[in-house]
Amino acid sequence: MPDLTPSALQERLTWRYAVKQFDAERKIPLDIWQVIEQALILTPSSFGLQPWQFVIVTDPQIKQQMPPRSWHQTQPLHCSHMVVLTARKSLDEAYVDRFLESVAQTRGVATETLSGYRNVIRQSVAQSTGQHLNWNARQVYIALGQLMTAAAMVGVDSCPMEGLDMAAYDQLLGLTDSPYTTVVGCALGYRSPSDKYASAPKVRFAAADIIKHI
Ligand SMILES: Cc1cc2nc3c(=O)[nH]c(=O)nc-3n(C[C@H](O)[C@H](O)[C@H](O)COP(=O)(O)O)c2cc1C
Repeated sequence: MPDLTPSALQERLTWRYAVKQFDAERKIPLDIWQVIEQALILTPSSFGLQPWQFVIVTDPQIKQQMPPRSWHQTQPLHCSHMVVLTARKSLDEAYVDRFLESVAQTRGVATETLSGYRNVIRQSVAQSTGQHLNWNARQVYIALGQLMTAAAMVGVDSCPMEGLDMAAYDQLLGLTDSPYTTVVGCALGYRSPSDKYASAPKVRFAAADIIKHI
């Protein structure tokens, strides 16, 4: 049986909210941060391709430059760790082969035994030419969800952030000419005691409107 009771899970999910104001003095301890980073690494993705990079920003000089590039929101500056979730702009056979090498090495099998799997992935990649960034960005949002939930489980607050100038973030992080581009951000740290949104009731449609049992 898992240690987590259903009521404890419910409590964590309700505790999480999109933080508007972080306590700039509180930093996430290393051991807690490391498990949150594992949640990012362990995120599932289509075929397991992991078409992403997660840029973790703690450098105050870089964080300081973020609010003007974030619709003047201050969470990236005051949080402990600002995660910029990026997606690969495109996929190609070399990337698929690199992934399959990793599968072969990890599982101790010859790469040739994976040729069927390689063909299926290569076909998907070829068929979705021109849509790779869109496909990869959808995978990145899975990581965003996992990141926020994992953080809440260990008592760390977060704010998912789409209110970013993605091109300006790419420039700031040196991604412009890289294979990756900014998709979404997530500020992590600890809520400020004066953030009134912490006690605001959750706004959700009635369960009957959004859950259908058939
Ligand atoms: C993909 C995504 C992008 C968001 N972008 C922002 C943002 O830029 N700034 C912000 O303050 N909140 C942002 N939010 C937070 C949402 O407004 C918030 O999650 C929603 O209102 C539900 O409230 P709760 O998370 O507090 O339960 C974003 C949420 C998601 C999922």
